[in-house]
Amino acid sequence: MKLSSKIQRCGLSPMRQFYPREMAARARGVRVYHLNIGQPDVETPRAFFDAVGGFDAPVVAYPPAPGEERYVEALQTYYAGLGCSLEKEDILATFGGSEALEIAMACILDEGDEVLVPEPFYPNYTTFINVTGGRIRPIPTSAEEGYRFVSRERIEPLINQRTRAILVTTPGNPTGVVLSSEEMRLLADIAKERDLFLISDEVYREIVYTGEKATMLAYSDAAENVVIIDSVSKRFSTTGARVGALISRNRELMGQAMKWAQGRLCITALDQIGAARMYETLGEEYFASVREEYRARKDATVVALAKIPGVRFTSPEGAFYLMATLPVDDTEKLQYFLLDEFQDRGETMMYAPGAGFYDDPEQGRNKIRLACVRNAAELTRAVELLGIGIEAYNRKSEK
Ligand SMILES: Cc1ncc(COP(=O)(O)O)c(C=O)c1O
Repeated sequence: MKLSSKIQRCGLSPMRQFYPREMAARARGVRVYHLNIGQPDVETPRAFFDAVGGFDAPVVAYPPAPGEERYVEALQTYYAGLGCSLEKEDILATFGGSEALEIAMACILDEGDEVLVPEPFYPNYTTFINVTGGRIRPIPTSAEEGYRFVSRERIEPLINQRTRAILVTTPGNPTGVVLSSEEMRLLADIAKERDLFLISDEVYREIVYTGEKATMLAYSDAAENVVIIDSVSKRFSTTGARVGALISRNRELMGQAMKWAQGRLCITALDQIGAARMYETLGEEYFASVREEYRARKDATVVALAKIPGVRFTSPEGAFYLMATLPVDDTEKLQYFLLDEFQDRGETMMYAPGAGFYDDPEQGRNKIRLACVRNAAELTRAVELLGIGIEAYNRKSEK
């Protein structure tokens, strides 16, 4: 039977594709350090479990399609703290940032429409854009330029009649780039002038090492253009809760998004209650402590990586990832080698190969993304394993 060309244009996640080989390595008794997936080991706040455990209604009923009132109100208060006043109609509760992306693309894109995305990009953007029939048009960036991309010269020549949106991630996954206020201003100006949606994926908003946390919503003169992707996943280390939000002051867009929301009825009731409680009870003190933990992890990773000969990278300004260029021919092959043939004192490591972060996989062939989501000691050891593994792999390839 025929399957859709839209889904066939999507790929498997580079973060998850090595799972069977990892299982085989573990079955051989090898300990595997996971730097491949953005799954933090920072504990989920007690507030979440207390709220869910305290649920005492006789029926777990469908919440309203746009979201539990308490969750939406908690988000309004959180955004007021960022200096952004939002009406309830500006917020739609979603299954994580992932569904917010999916809904945004479904509402904006027709077959053949294009979204400008700085490259390298979060690989699942490909899925959300391709299943609507849309296409990513990459905004090229380079390690040498610290992956920065915001200038009229770089962006405007890529805009054509099929361009519908610019999608940016700040703080960035996988590059760790945090957009400055000047860069945000210019993006908002371009979006306004060219009548484009400006989708700003801010799921890592609190994790910034340089400067203040920020949101594109602050550029209220571009209110019709700006769409925010948000989530509790990384903010409160609750990736399994699946609670996020699509946020925009563009009422026409939100009106259309409501069709999707009503079609899928609602998102989970208990997770929204837990999410609301976290927003109600945790603030700057909590965010600062988590940020400092990630800073220590990022610093440990950077120090360890700098010891590996031939590795090039830029230290991230935010989020908990970094892109590195390795002195190998193919980082997918290296990953198979690390899982199938290599171990050092019974240990090996995993990363996400760079190919999946590029529209043209060849560009990422010698790159990797590391997720700094373990404690500093584990990260140091994992990166040490990477260095030993690179040496062993290159020795074997030379034979
Ligand atoms: C940049 C970015 N956007 C969106 C998501 C989706 O997150 P979730 O659906 O868990 O909120 C992720 C997850 O890793 C991400 O890195």
